[in-house]
Amino acid sequence: MADTYDYDVLVIGAGPGGYVAAIRAAQLGLKTACAESRETLGGTCLNVGCIPSKAMLHASEYYDAAANGTMAKMGIKVTAELDLDTMHGQRRDAVKQLTGGIEYLFKKNKVEWLKGRAAFTGKDSVEVAGKTVRAKNIVIATGSSVTPLPGVEVDQKVVVDSTGALELAKVPQHLVVIGGGVIGLELGSVWRRLGAKVTVVEYLDQILPGFDGDVRKEAHKIFKKQGLEFKLSTKVTGVVVNGEAATLTVEPAAGGTAETIEADAVLLAIGRKPNTDGLNLEAAGLSVNARGQVEIDHDFATSVPGIWAIGDVAPGLMLAHKAEDEGIAVAENIAGLTGIVNHDIIPSVVYTMPEFAGVGLTEEAAKAKGEIKVGKFPMMANSRAKTNHEPDGFVKIIADAKTDRVVGVWAIASVAGTMIAQAAQAMEFGATSEDIAYTCHAHPTHSEAIKEAAMAVTGKPIHI
Ligand code: FAD
Ligand code: NAI
Repeated sequence: MADTYDYDVLVIGAGPGGYVAAIRAAQLGLKTACAESRETLGGTCLNVGCIPSKAMLHASEYYDAAANGTMAKMGIKVTAELDLDTMHGQRRDAVKQLTGGIEYLFKKNKVEWLKGRAAFTGKDSVEVAGKTVRAKNIVIATGSSVTPLPGVEVDQKVVVDSTGALELAKVPQHLVVIGGGVIGLELGSVWRRLGAKVTVVEYLDQILPGFDGDVRKEAHKIFKKQGLEFKLSTKVTGVVVNGEAATLTVEPAAGGTAETIEADAVLLAIGRKPNTDGLNLEAAGLSVNARGQVEIDHDFATSVPGIWAIGDVAPGLMLAHKAEDEGIAVAENIAGLTGIVNHDIIPSVVYTMPEFAGVGLTEEAAKAKGEIKVGKFPMMANSRAKTNHEPDGFVKIIADAKTDRVVGVWAIASVAGTMIAQAAQAMEFGATSEDIAYTCHAHPTHSEAIKEAAMAVTGKPIHI
């Protein structure tokens, strides 16, 4: 008897991985459904991640510029007054518009939204909202959620995770952030700018794990200058909430004398873990690895034919654009095309002011692999950054010493997140530092710092 499937492709999860996979599969002529248990599409990224955090970063940056004298320096006299409700309102509005946009795209591309939590009932079948559906291909794109910390209970009032930290109804007097990673620094910056005292407690001796060593050091300096306080090499062993106050117990990471910190808000941001609870992977013959991820091969295929996995639930960086690219690639592989993602060239960006961005190898990792040449150019010497009163930061280009091929680019600049796309593209095309140095860059732009850093690889920048 011929197999009868309800769908060619069923995607579980409508985050940037899942919704993109579903749309591309439908574009390729496959009958596609996407199961999503949230009220709105777009996953963590659109609902409680990338988009709302950037909405708060953008608005708080304006407030800060008005309140800290940056505007006055440019001849604009204002008295800053915070209207937090309106700030939250514009954040919710951005989320509503963008999640609604995905619903429109599903309709336009004829992707069926199966509303509810999905759980496997077999290798090619899934139950969603009491109904069992069969699909020839199933893509697991269930994303990730906050890593818990024993002794720290998130109540979303005093002790919050990133979702709660986006929603605080008033500016805390003292926010303690547990974890000096991307979330801690972005959301810590938001509340610092709005007037909170912010202390970041980080287990390691440096913030921003995964970033280039120079960038990590400079980031620490810049955030300290902006008023964030840091307790590095320190671990939180417990938080006790009493009414609207919290007492954190911390001790040196290596062990030693404990001390307490008083706060009226605590943000837990020590990483995220893949979402597989309740998915009943066993029914499909799948299990997770030691990190809780669904293992895949180069084509995003799991060990069970017809089941695929992408995004935060699969190994690799937990980033929206990585999930999106994997979504396109997996759909193309399912359709019999060749979907590829180059995991060596995935940019990372911290969207603070300035932004911290990088792509490819850190200087430390590149050195460990072989001989390199490094060119660096300070934003202080970039005419546009200087004119805009944005002196902090630099661009650093790391090239292979023999071939001159660029293996890593790191940038700290107000628009580093936008600048890094050029570096990613150059690296994708196999560019040498000379290729970048001899590419004409518009003047005056922050991007000229990339050209100058490339010129510095051979020791010949013009403006320093
Ligand atoms: P997700 O976006 O997590 O989506 C998975 C979806 O699956 C969810 O909607 C969930 O409800 C659904 N789901 C799970 N299980 C089931 C089930 N059994 N049945 C039905 N549905 C299910 N990344 C960036 O690149 N840039 C940023 O600026 C950025 N900012 C961030 C800020 C914050 C505060 C956070 C928390 C994250 C941020 N990220 C950012 C990370 C980014 O959000 C994730 O990497 C991205 O959302 C992962 O996409 P995904 O599709 O794999 O999963
Ligand atoms: P993270 O991995 O970036 O940082 C977590 C930090 O917490 C690390 O520095 C770690 O050393 C520290 N830590 C771990 N345990 C600790 C403990 N017990 N006490 C003190 N510190 C401890 O994770 P984060 O910030 O939670 O972000 C999760 C994910 O979301 C990241 O993978 C990131 O890629 C993604 N994200 C991306 C953003 C972006 O692209 N701009 C923005 C926000 C999140």
